[in-house]
Amino acid sequence: MIKAIDFNDPSLSLDLARVSEAAAIACAPLIGQGDERAADLAAVGAMHAQLNTLDISGVVVIGEGEQDEAPLLYLGENVGTGTGLNVDIALDPLEGTTLTAKDMPNALAVIAMGPRGSMLHAPDTYMDKLAIGPGYASGVVSLDMSTRERIEALANAKDCDARDITVCVLDRPRHENIIDEIRATGAAIRLITDGDVAGVMHCAETARTGIDMYMGSGGAPEGVLAAAALKCMGGQMIGRLLLRNQDDKSRARNAGITDFDKIYTCGDMVTQHVIFAASGVTYGKLVAGIKREPGFVSVETILMRSKTGSVRRMLYRKPV
Ligand code: FBP
Repeated sequence: MIKAIDFNDPSLSLDLARVSEAAAIACAPLIGQGDERAADLAAVGAMHAQLNTLDISGVVVIGEGEQDEAPLLYLGENVGTGTGLNVDIALDPLEGTTLTAKDMPNALAVIAMGPRGSMLHAPDTYMDKLAIGPGYASGVVSLDMSTRERIEALANAKDCDARDITVCVLDRPRHENIIDEIRATGAAIRLITDGDVAGVMHCAETARTGIDMYMGSGGAPEGVLAAAALKCMGGQMIGRLLLRNQDDKSRARNAGITDFDKIYTCGDMVTQHVIFAASGVTYGKLVAGIKREPGFVSVETILMRSKTGSVRRMLYRKPV
């Protein structure tokens, strides 16, 4: 029987925070240990176990991959006790496996929950992404602009010089041109080795992170998670799937996508109100990383609800 839970019930969001906390805490002994797979397995197992304690009838729509490649948290898996509200779940138990294995910044355990049908079923392909923080007119930057045009438009909207803009980009050979173009404008650039969910989220808290804009390609599923975060934090995110071959196109088709050139706004990727939680695994400006001390492990979580715009940071100190 479906229990009548108000989706905006604050206790449901606290439950969600416990899910990302569990995944992050499970990684504690594996931070810096050089074993990406072990860290990922630990996070997946812990997130799965905690998620299944929630009184929801959940379906994983952004997860660990197809059922034949992921034993837990695969796409379409039913999660929760099955006795609550029908919800869709987007998750990445460990966003930044290499960051965790090397103890580099901004690895997160991430989960978003919304009503059934509220989040794009993004295929496991790349997505071209562009994001800025809140407070700008809609459409001030667009994917169709050149790199220079994007930076100049944002600088203009911020009433500053291009030199005062900082752009975050994944450090990849495929981004060489973008990186050169950003440098040519005089804007600052922060290269990250992984973790573009955090990269996009950094745009929403410029005063804390120093990042004004995110651009470049990364995982499409991560794009939906980042859109869920920005829907709560404010800001704009635009994405377009990059379908490089027939395999990518059939992944998109299997995900129900017919318009391969569609430009998705944040609102296209996340169509209804969501709850979003991210717990820090390694240190970062958004949330602190896991801290270990004798007898305790601490984890910080950012917990947000798009309906109210509430953003909470919570520290959980767990006896171990
Ligand atoms: P993992 O957590 O699987 O290591 O992925 C991290 C990540 O950096 C994402 O944040 C990003 O979207 C994607 O990988 C980029 O993919 P690629 O490494 O192929 O450029």
